[in-house]
Amino acid sequence: MQIPQDLIETAALKLKSVQSEAEFFQLRAQYLGKKSFVVTAFSKLRDLQSDKKVNVAKELNILKNNLTKLFETSIEDIEGKSDHKKLDVSLPADPFLVGSEHPITKISQKIINYFTLLNYQIFSGNEIETDFYNFEALNFPENHPARQMHDTFYLNSSSKTEYLLRTHTSNTQVHAMLNEDLPLYMLSPGRVFRCDSDTTHLPMFTQIEGLVVDEDVTFGDLKGVLIDFLEDFFNEKMEVRFRPSYFPFTEPSAEVDIKFGKQGWLEILGCGMVHPNVLNGCNIDTKKFRGFAFGMGVERLAMLYYGVTDIREFYSSNLDFLNQFPS
Ligand code: PHE
Repeated sequence: MQIPQDLIETAALKLKSVQSEAEFFQLRAQYLGKKSFVVTAFSKLRDLQSDKKVNVAKELNILKNNLTKLFETSIEDIEGKSDHKKLDVSLPADPFLVGSEHPITKISQKIINYFTLLNYQIFSGNEIETDFYNFEALNFPENHPARQMHDTFYLNSSSKTEYLLRTHTSNTQVHAMLNEDLPLYMLSPGRVFRCDSDTTHLPMFTQIEGLVVDEDVTFGDLKGVLIDFLEDFFNEKMEVRFRPSYFPFTEPSAEVDIKFGKQGWLEILGCGMVHPNVLNGCNIDTKKFRGFAFGMGVERLAMLYYGVTDIREFYSSNLDFLNQFPS
């Protein structure tokens, strides 16, 4: 293999006539890039006999180091020449972009603030969960049809335990009932996942669920808490209706509707008294304690609050949309 002796000199000469950064990088690629003599020569080394290989490798290394140094020292001269580095103090300043909180963060925070004032503790919990916390402990026995309402994303797992993406934040309530002291006043905000998508549903959305476990709590307390919350949230007197419904983990269960302008009755929350099976499963003495729970979708509340008609807008990263919610 013949190593050209004048490689460094010609590179240095060419560098002197370089006028812009683009030309500089082109030249550097020519001498040190993938197709350059040095790099291709290195790859051909393995074809040489071993006695020659050592010497040629040494020479190539020296050449490569010298070329690298040459280009490193020249870059500063080039930067001085390049147009955009010249300082022109008369140019207008770059526009300064001010970010703001995402509308879903804002609405979540508004809800969290309300319940924090009522002394509810906040638990965020796990997004990746086991079947036990997402379903079984919440009185969804295996093969129960209510599981199908949840369109669950199951995660492949090599271990024996099957993992899934939580379909609601009720999983966090099971952890809290098993680990925290009673009485318990808690809120579990966070992202949940269901295999679903259209103008009013997303595969990932945000829920805030509440749970109270205490002596003597009643459905009347639950109604009072929710009506007060809704009136505070929308900052006006609300027409609220509790409609019988079904959730495996509450009995009795209800869906809460609000009368919303021309749109009429709109479903806004699920709620109920915690099912004794759930309390027993969490080692809670059902002779002494009772509980109520409620759950709401933050995107749905945000849509009503801001008058947004397509839920997908929240996650489209469209600045024209997001800029409508300044801090
Ligand atoms: N976990 C329920 C859901 O995701 C909502 C809910 C919470 C209903 C608490 C009742 C009580 O649909």
